Amino acid sequence: MRFLTTSFGIATLCLTSVVANGPSFKPFFRPPFNFPKNPENKETCTLKASGGDDAPRFLKAVQECTTVTVPASTTLSIQTRMNMTGLRDKHIQLEGTLKFTDNIPYWSGNGFFIPFQTQITFWLLGGTNILFDGGGTLDGSGQLWWDTFASNSSLLRPITLTIFEAENVLVENIHMLNSPEWNNLVNEGKNVVYNNINIHAVSNSSHNAANTDGWNVYRSDNIQILNSVIVNGDDCVAFKPNATNVLVENLNCTGSHGISVGSLGQFPGMFDIVENVLAKNVRMTNAQNGARIKAWAGPNVGSGIVKNITFENFIEAAVDNPIIIDQCYMTNATACAQFPSNTLIQDIWFNNITGTGTKAVVASLSCSPDGRCSDINVNDISLSFPKGSASFTCQNLNVTGDAASLFPTCALT
Ligand SMILES: *[C@@H]1O[C@H](CO)[C@@H](O)[C@H](O)[C@H]1NC(C)=O
Ligand SMILES: *[C@@H]1O[C@H](CO)[C@@H](O)[C@H](O)[C@H]1NC(C)=O
Ligand SMILES: *[C@@H]1O[C@H](CO)[C@@H](O)[C@H](O)[C@H]1NC(C)=O
Ligand SMILES: *[C@@H]1O[C@H](CO)[C@@H](O)[C@H](O)[C@H]1NC(C)=O
Ligand SMILES: *[C@@H]1O[C@H](CO)[C@@H](O)[C@H](O)[C@H]1NC(C)=O
Ligand SMILES: *[C@@H]1O[C@H](CO)[C@@H](O)[C@H](O)[C@H]1NC(C)=O
Ligand SMILES: *[C@@H]1O[C@H](CO)[C@@H](O)[C@H](O)[C@H]1NC(C)=O
Ligand SMILES: *[C@@H]1O[C@H](CO)[C@@H](O)[C@H](O)[C@H]1NC(C)=O
Ligand SMILES: *[C@@H]1O[C@H](CO)[C@@H](O)[C@H](O)[C@H]1NC(C)=O
Repeated sequence: MRFLTTSFGIATLCLTSVVANGPSFKPFFRPPFNFPKNPENKETCTLKASGGDDAPRFLKAVQECTTVTVPASTTLSIQTRMNMTGLRDKHIQLEGTLKFTDNIPYWSGNGFFIPFQTQITFWLLGGTNILFDGGGTLDGSGQLWWDTFASNSSLLRPITLTIFEAENVLVENIHMLNSPEWNNLVNEGKNVVYNNINIHAVSNSSHNAANTDGWNVYRSDNIQILNSVIVNGDDCVAFKPNATNVLVENLNCTGSHGISVGSLGQFPGMFDIVENVLAKNVRMTNAQNGARIKAWAGPNVGSGIVKNITFENFIEAAVDNPIIIDQCYMTNATACAQFPSNTLIQDIWFNNITGTGTKAVVASLSCSPDGRCSDINVNDISLSFPKGSASFTCQNLNVTGDAASLFPTCALT
C-alpha cells in the first residue's frame, strides 16, 4: 500500500543508529489500514500556507480528503485549536511543518481542556485508521511558554499532539520541536503505534523546558513507542492510570526524567491500573531517573495496581536514580507507615541495567510497609557511581533474581 511507503528523509538516519543498539525493529503490531475509495472523498489534497491561520483549512482538508499532504517547503501557521476527532481512514502526510503560534492569551483560554491532571492541548486527533507521517515537524514554539510558566505556575500550557478516542493509529517519521508542555498524550487509545519520532525540547533561556514529557499513556491499551530519539525536560515516557499492554523499544532519551510508571494512586476514589509493560533497549543519558515506578501513599489518596512491568537492556549514563521504586511517593516515613500505599506493585523485572549514577545510591527499591510489593526481580545489574562506591538500598520488600545480593537486607535466598 502506497500509504506505508513514504519518504523517510533525515529521520531514517536516526532510526538506523538507534536500532544498531538493539535487535532489529519488528513491530508485533501494525494497524490494519484499509482505506476504502470513498467517492465522496477526494483522494489526495495538497495544502500550502495561506499567510493567515491555516488551522481551519487544514481541518477541512483532513475532513474532506483521504490523504492530505503538506509539502516539504510549506509551513502551516496553526493559530487556532484543531478538533480532528472521529476521523476514519485518513492519511496525513506532513512533509513540511505545522507551526503552532505562541499566542498565550488565545491558547491558554481556548486549548482543548484535558481533565486528567488539568491540562490543555493544541490538537485532538482521533477516530479509526489514521496514518500520520511524512518526515515533517510539529513546532510548538515553546520558548515563550517556558519563560512565562517560570513566573506563573498556574499557566495552562498546551500538549502538542493528543491522540484522543482513537483506534488503529500509526504516527511515524515525525519531528517534534519545542512543545510548550507534554509532547504526546494518548488519551483513550487502542492500537496506537509511534515509530521514529524525534523529540527536541531544550530551552535557550535560564528557564527549563518544564513538563515536556515525550509521551504519556492514559486509559489506553496496546500502545507501542518505538525507535525514537528524545531530548527533553521531563519524563521520556510515562505510564499513567490505565495504561495496559505497552511496548517501548529502542529509545534514546537525554535530559529526561526517565521511563516512568506513575505517579499512580493519587486521587481518592480512583483505581489506577498499569499492567503488561515492556520497556527495552533504552539509552538514558543525563537524566533524573532511569527505570522508575512511583505510587502515592498517605491519607486521602487513591488505589490501584502496577503489575507485570519489565525494564530490560537499559544503558544509563549520569542518571540520578538509575533504578527506583518509590511506593511512598510524596509521603514522609511517618505518614507512609500509618497510611501505606493502596497501589500494589507486583511482578516487576529490572533486567540487564548497566551504567552510571550521579549519586552513591544507584538503585532504591522502597515500598510501603505491610507487604504491598511482591515478586520484584533484579537480574544482570551493573551500576556504578564514578565518584565513590555505589549503594543499593531497599525497604519493605523481598528481592529475587541473580542481582538480589546487591540488596542484602531484602534478598530472598
Ligand atoms: C543518543 O544519546 C547519546 C547521549 O545523549 C548521544 O551521544 C547519541 O548521539 C544519541 N544517539 C542518537 C542516535 O541520537
Ligand atoms: C470535536 O468535534 C466533535 C465532532 O464534531 C464533537 O462531537 C466534539 O464535541 C468536539 N470536541 C471538543 C472537545 O470540542
Ligand atoms: C534556541 O536557539 C537556537 C539557535 O538560534 C534555535 O535553533 C532553537 O530553535 C532555539 N530554541 C528554542 C527553544 O527556541
Ligand atoms: C497566570 O496564568 C493564568 C492562567 O492562564 C492567568 O489567568 C493569570 O492571569 C496569570 N497570572 C499572571 C500573574 O500573569
Ligand atoms: C481503570 O480501569 C478500572 C477497571 O476497568 C476502572 O475501575 C477504573 O476506574 C479505571 N481508572 C481510571 C483512572 O480510568
Ligand atoms: C506481561 O507483559 C508482557 C509485555 O507486555 C506480555 O508480553 C506478557 O504476556 C505479560 N504476561 C502476563 C502473564 O500477562
Ligand atoms: C544487555 O543490554 C545491552 C544494551 O541494550 C545489550 O547490548 C546486550 O545484548 C544485553 N545483554 C543481554 C544478555 O541481553
Ligand atoms: C508527615 O506528613 C504528615 C501528613 O502529611 C504531616 O502531618 C506531618 O507533619 C509530616 N511529618 C513530618 C515529620 O514531616
Ligand atoms: C518476605 O518473604 C518472607 C518469607 O517468605 C515473608 O515472611 C515476608 O512477609 C516477606 N516480606 C515482604 C515485605 O514481602
